[in-house]
Amino acid sequence: LSDGPLKGVKAIVTSGPTREAIDPVRFIANRSSGKQGHAIASALAALGAEVTLVSGPVSIPDPTGLAVVKVESAVQMLNAVRSRLPAHVVVCAAAVADWTVANRATEKRKKKVGDPPPTIELTPNPDILMTVSKAEGPLRPTLVVGFAAETEKLMEHAADKLARKGCDWIVANDVSEGTGTFGGDANTVHVLDSDGVESWPAMGKEEVARKLAERIAKALGKA
Ligand code: C5P
Repeated sequence: LSDGPLKGVKAIVTSGPTREAIDPVRFIANRSSGKQGHAIASALAALGAEVTLVSGPVSIPDPTGLAVVKVESAVQMLNAVRSRLPAHVVVCAAAVADWTVANRATEKRKKKVGDPPPTIELTPNPDILMTVSKAEGPLRPTLVVGFAAETEKLMEHAADKLARKGCDWIVANDVSEGTGTFGGDANTVHVLDSDGVESWPAMGKEEVARKLAERIAKALGKA
């Protein structure tokens, strides 16, 4: 463990997409490279935090200097986060599937000529960010940070998310077509908390992660 302002601070970061199985060979997933979440985990570790990164399936390498827990589904992600609480800070950067498959098949669904296509029934997934934010007593982290990736009405949706989910900060980013946020290396974010909005200029995801880790250190009285 490195020395630094976040020495002794326990952090959990979720990152990447989740996968919800339709059958043993097919799944539903969200679009997420894991770049921003992984960078945040690394930046917190670089400041000395004891970090657990809970990641859905991604194609980028595991960061070093921290614990990586790999999961597939949203339920697995929630269980992985829960079992590692308490923590001082939880950052939910994962793109969690909103729904999972209610009629998941245990064998591969076969297509037969003339048969209609199968119907996939969806059922809501647990909301990890909301569950952690609304945890009571010592299981409630000092600081819970969520993300809002929106293609329109960014600030409105982000403010709504802050209120509804009960987290302390929302990092809002515009992922509409042409911004290059998805899978790209740059990001333009706005940090919302109960005091208002802080808009950051466009910068690399690594730089967003560093600034966020510094802001976290300051909020925890460690900077
Ligand atoms: O509601 P929406 O998915 O837009 O909210 C985004 C934020 O909530 C992100 O921080 C995401 O990681 C978190 N989230 C979650 N569990 C879900 C859905 C979203 O932790 N099931």
